[in-house]
Amino acid sequence: MSTKELTDRGGESMIVNCYKGCYFYRGGFPIPFEEHMKRVEDMALRSDDVILCSYPKSGTHWLWEVISMIVNEDLEYRERERGMDMLDFSPMSLLESIKSPRVLGSHIHFRFLPKEVLTKKPKVVYIVRDPKAVAVSYYNMTFGMKTVRSYDGHVPVKEYNGKWEDYLESFISGEVEYGSWFDHTLSWKQAREDNPDVPVFLLKYEDMKSDPVSCIQKLSTFLEKPNNIERAQAIADACSFSNIKKVNTGTRADGVVWKEGGNMFRKGQSNDWKHWFKVAQNERFEDVLMAKMNKRGVSE
Ligand code: A3P
Repeated sequence: MSTKELTDRGGESMIVNCYKGCYFYRGGFPIPFEEHMKRVEDMALRSDDVILCSYPKSGTHWLWEVISMIVNEDLEYRERERGMDMLDFSPMSLLESIKSPRVLGSHIHFRFLPKEVLTKKPKVVYIVRDPKAVAVSYYNMTFGMKTVRSYDGHVPVKEYNGKWEDYLESFISGEVEYGSWFDHTLSWKQAREDNPDVPVFLLKYEDMKSDPVSCIQKLSTFLEKPNNIERAQAIADACSFSNIKKVNTGTRADGVVWKEGGNMFRKGQSNDWKHWFKVAQNERFEDVLMAKMNKRGVSE
């Protein structure tokens, strides 16, 4: 069975794709999901590809825009025909047709990436965000979406109508799209340790928020396209939350049909989760963080 219905404790559910014991995207595919994942594993990479990886809602779209501007040496932010090119749900024909240098997004674990990652060694960027902020952002997206992207534009998705407190329990136990944040983050940490010759740049959402210019400069150096402070500032400004939101909302690339009030570019803040977590929920989450990650507070 390549899909599974995940039901929260309030009885509301979402349907996710499954492969090798992990949960993936909610969208329907014109081919069996296993077939799609095998194509991804066998996909040919180019040495100048950049693969941007994350658990969903970690700032992937933001970073994709930043990286695209860096690798294309472009300081002007443009409205795009398509959204982020994702390994997870883009057809192989589309991924192959993209001009180099490609910036390929993905929310999958390292072990599901194209096998050529180990031989071609393209640059990999991994963005991580405070899981409390991720949980809030992901709840809003999961709740709000009536369609998701798939091979052919957007497809309707089974709507999720759960309450925040029930979603949070599902998030903690990993019974959500893309599974456990904790497992995802730990598996990437392990993959970095196991594959030291694969160039992986780790970036924190919160650092990008507090000091985008210095993050963009470090990222540019990693991507071998160094930028001085002025150029890094220009990229930071072009990709600011308000600008990205303004340019993307309602475009073809965004294209998602939302319930009233939904938006991919919601708040763009580090601390909005404080408006959502009750004291007891925060204490519970901190206990889980300690048990699973051996730490408190923001992710590593
Ligand atoms: P919020 O829902 O907290 O607002 P992803 O792209 O991985 O799906 O992540 C989406 C999150 O990143 C959303 O968080 C979105 O608003 C935020 N985001 C997008 N662009 C941003 C930007 N330029 N600056 C800060 N946050 C941004």
